[in-house]
Amino acid sequence: MNDSNVGVDVVIRSMHRGDIDSVVAIELQAFTSPWKAETFLGLIGRTGAELWVVEHSRVGVIAYGVLWYLLDQGQLANMAVAPEFLGQGLAARLLDHMLELACNRGIKSIYLEVRASNERAAELYLGFGFREISRREDYYDLPKEDARVMRIEL
Ligand SMILES: CC(C)(COP(=O)(O)OP(=O)(O)OC[C@H]1O[C@@H](n2cnc3c(N)ncnc32)[C@H](O)[C@@H]1OP(=O)(O)O)[C@@H](O)C(=O)NCCC(=O)NCCS
Repeated sequence: MNDSNVGVDVVIRSMHRGDIDSVVAIELQAFTSPWKAETFLGLIGRTGAELWVVEHSRVGVIAYGVLWYLLDQGQLANMAVAPEFLGQGLAARLLDHMLELACNRGIKSIYLEVRASNERAAELYLGFGFREISRREDYYDLPKEDARVMRIEL
């Protein structure tokens, strides 16, 4: 099997401090305003924050997601897949995992923001049952762009 073809060779597990270099390497490729290592480190172990990675048995960390919540409201704060592993269903698997976890935590609804031009992510979220509820004008920088605010009721 080619290393870019994940097949069944992946597990989803909690993010550890030792994952941060791999996570930040993906983050830098995925976003124009990437989170810093300190942001991930500050969230690991914090109440109300859930950080997950997709780990390939040979390659290591190839995707991650961050959900935070307060009482019964959650926010999907971050998610990315390494460029060479896009389009193989990894984000869908990770999202499925995080939504199930959210249900188990008693979370009733989850919000997220996504760049207006990010059709790939929007398709993913809409396919899972998220609905656009509003827009935030000029929410993003680099480039300046609106955010679509989406919500799912669990
Ligand atoms: C958004 C992102 C996480 C999707 O990851 P992925 O692993 O490629 O997504 P998946 O393979 O699981 O695809 C799931 C669904 O997304 C949508 N999708 C995936 N690739 C797509 C593409 N090229 N065009 C349109 N929709 C696409 C489809 O609905 C797909 O479902 P389907 O294959 O059953 O039709 C990934 O593109 C990424 O890391 N982007 C950069 C960071 C980012 O934008 N994060 C989200 C911030 S809100």
